[in-house]
Amino acid sequence: MSLEVIILAAGQGTRMKSKLPKVLHQVAGKPMVGHVIDTAAGLDPISTHVVIGHGGDQLRQFFSHTYADQGLNVVEQTEQLGTGHAVDQAMPAVAAESVALILYGDVPLTRLDTLRGLVERAQQGNLALLTVELANPTGYGRIVRDHDHQVVAIVEQKDASEAELAIREINTGIMALPAAWLKQWLPQLSSDNAQGEYYLTDIIAMAAQSGRSIAAIHPDSEQEVQGVNNRLQLAELERWHQLQQANHWMTEGVTLADPARVDFRGDIAIGQDVSLDINVILEGKVVIGDNVSIGANCVIKDSSIAAGSVIKAHSMLDETLVGESCDIGPFARLRPGTILANRAKIGNFVETKKTTVGEGSKINHLSYVGDATLGKAVNVGAGTITCNYDGVNKFQTEIGDNAFIGSNTSLVAPVVVGAGGTTGAGSTITKSIDEGALGVARGRQANLKGWKRPEKKA
Ligand code: UD1
Ligand code: CA
Repeated sequence: MSLEVIILAAGQGTRMKSKLPKVLHQVAGKPMVGHVIDTAAGLDPISTHVVIGHGGDQLRQFFSHTYADQGLNVVEQTEQLGTGHAVDQAMPAVAAESVALILYGDVPLTRLDTLRGLVERAQQGNLALLTVELANPTGYGRIVRDHDHQVVAIVEQKDASEAELAIREINTGIMALPAAWLKQWLPQLSSDNAQGEYYLTDIIAMAAQSGRSIAAIHPDSEQEVQGVNNRLQLAELERWHQLQQANHWMTEGVTLADPARVDFRGDIAIGQDVSLDINVILEGKVVIGDNVSIGANCVIKDSSIAAGSVIKAHSMLDETLVGESCDIGPFARLRPGTILANRAKIGNFVETKKTTVGEGSKINHLSYVGDATLGKAVNVGAGTITCNYDGVNKFQTEIGDNAFIGSNTSLVAPVVVGAGGTTGAGSTITKSIDEGALGVARGRQANLKGWKRPEKKA
């Protein structure tokens, strides 16, 4: 049976106290609902339906930006009349022959294997429920079982008797079942209960009464089914998730100075014998080769760092490709379009953008190099600036192999320094320099003998 996923995300999330819809709040740099969509995609559903309500415009914008080519079916629930009503909004687009998996946009960290287990049970003809035993079940729907231990109903906290409130097995809300059953039962729901809502959970009793088999399975950990209602729970889940990832990478041969002080926010690949010092943040798509070392407080975003390179403390890399055995930082800022060949060296307080640095070339101190191409073994002196922008257009600077750029050179682009060329310190270079030539462009020094400095009057 093919699978269709229904994600409920219409709720307001009042307790977040936010203008942003709850499910767009992020865990590990990705909106919660994005985690749910991405995990569900691992099950190869024929379609994914997202039920939205509050913050609909912002949600639609996120979906069309991030999931444009995934054919999400976005369904509007104009009034939040309960979880049963929410699922019903998606049903016209769900095929009766499918199995439906119901997920929540604010439960971001359910593992693929857990969902797979649930869907398998449903495909075998069960109503498959994900339940968990909690030390404190307050607030959740309780799983009611008969004397044979069969699930017969879910009772919501507000509708539960004293005896039912004592039950510690709770409904996570996540379930899978043949869509035909939903189509049969959802229209029969009533809102005659303590909250005046159409409870999805009422279909459990309908299933039991019509003799359908109900299977309950459990996640490996509570956090997998933890929903987020406020920013405290969001932070708790974030920390748990980060620790899981830290543990994973240590198991894979990565040294972490402190597993509680490193953040992984994206699609990360790390080689062996890599070491990450405290407060390193890896964001977006990051690839780190073997034997790379990253110092304290570095932020590496959408970048790749080849084997043996060293990134010293307080450096930021964004959309940057670093070759092998490069030496970067401390305090380097490599901006989008920076490409470093092997053994390049970028020192402190150096900013680069849209710049290719050839093999073994060095920009060691206090420089801005943008829209530039540097050949091999170039040495860029302290304080060098590419003047690449006239306020409207950007221009290129080209520096050939073995060139030597004197300290405090301004390279007014477009300009070329030929291979082996040199610039005198403090020069403002506006004309290209031929191969092997020296370009000097600065006022000549005059020394005045017997010069009297002004003196303060008593
Ligand atoms: C629901 C379950 C409860 C379970 C708990 C787990 C029901 C009746 N109760 O309770 O058994 O223990 O989740 O967290 O299902 N939503 C909509 N539209 C609506 C109502 C809700 O999209 O009209 C969405 C919410 O945005 C949220 C999810 O459904 O993502 C759950 O809704 P919520 O109101 O939090 O349900 P609970 O009362 O917590
Ligand atoms: Ca809830």
